[in-house]
Amino acid sequence: MNLADLNKVAVAMVVPGKGILAADESSGTIKKRFDAIKVESTEDNRRDYREMLFRSKEAMSHYISGVILYDETICQNAKDGTPLVKLIEQAGSIPGIKVDEGTQGLPNCPGELVTVGLDKLAERLKNYYDRGARFAKWRAVIDIGQGTGGHRIPSMTAIRVNAHALARYAALCQAAQIVPIVEPEVLMDGDHDIDRCYEVTQRVLNKTFQELRVQRVALEGMILKPNMAVSGKKSAKQASVQEVAEKTIRLLKSCVPAAVPGIAFLSGGQSDEEATAHLNAMNAIGNLPWRLTFSYGRALQAAPQKAWSGKSENVAAGQRAFTHRAHMNALASTGRWTT
Ligand code: 13P
Repeated sequence: MNLADLNKVAVAMVVPGKGILAADESSGTIKKRFDAIKVESTEDNRRDYREMLFRSKEAMSHYISGVILYDETICQNAKDGTPLVKLIEQAGSIPGIKVDEGTQGLPNCPGELVTVGLDKLAERLKNYYDRGARFAKWRAVIDIGQGTGGHRIPSMTAIRVNAHALARYAALCQAAQIVPIVEPEVLMDGDHDIDRCYEVTQRVLNKTFQELRVQRVALEGMILKPNMAVSGKKSAKQASVQEVAEKTIRLLKSCVPAAVPGIAFLSGGQSDEEATAHLNAMNAIGNLPWRLTFSYGRALQAAPQKAWSGKSENVAAGQRAFTHRAHMNALASTGRWTT
């Protein structure tokens, strides 16, 4: 492993004024997104849609430091035959790849999930590096709520096995000279309040960093992709933007070592504006040991998906919508966004 080079990539991924586009929806997830805009999820439509994003010159060259791709996309060519990876590189952005293979039910823990995909990961990483990927992503999913047996979720078992897998993945990435994005996502689907989200996320992050240390992952050569401390979507008590910002900063300061170059948040089902406002409020607080930016999927793509709606005559409108959201989040990544 060449740690200086890994660190260089990690620092570039969170450079001030830029963030990451998570365009790594699996075939199942992109179908759901396309269903919502009444577009059939064919290979060509998925290509056309992603090509539209990657050819958004202003967004890609000014606001997007890196793009997380799905296996199909990293192997795909644009309509004119140019590899999609090349379009990203030509814009000065870094290609990355989602390498987890989704979740499975966790034995003995009803209602909980473990992320899979470690088998043969070393070989897959090598192939992805050859295709141009310089960073990767693995997402663990932790739910808050009641299990089917009426017990409280998450169990310590689910937190431990997912943290272990995240660290195994991260160590394998670094050995393959690929920067790991470590993503332990605590879902915001329940009716819990912000303090319960805070407490669960703290346990998850502490366990994750413990495993990363045990497995000797170099913190200087990774990026953390966490959820923010937010109220559950169905909670009657919704925390304000300022409360989310203050609690998320306090939480991260208590768990994330300063050696980590950057934290790139997931949007997790927040509205476009909320995701921007929260990131901006955190950066406005300032005086942080790491860079804070975005690695949004839905909060960057909902608007362009709607504007595009699968029609070639809407490509310019889709690109404008994407550029606008990317610009707003880029401003938020330095605390300079205003409504
Ligand atoms: P969202 O921003 O839509 O949560 O997606 C980010 C991501 O990469 C989830 O793994």
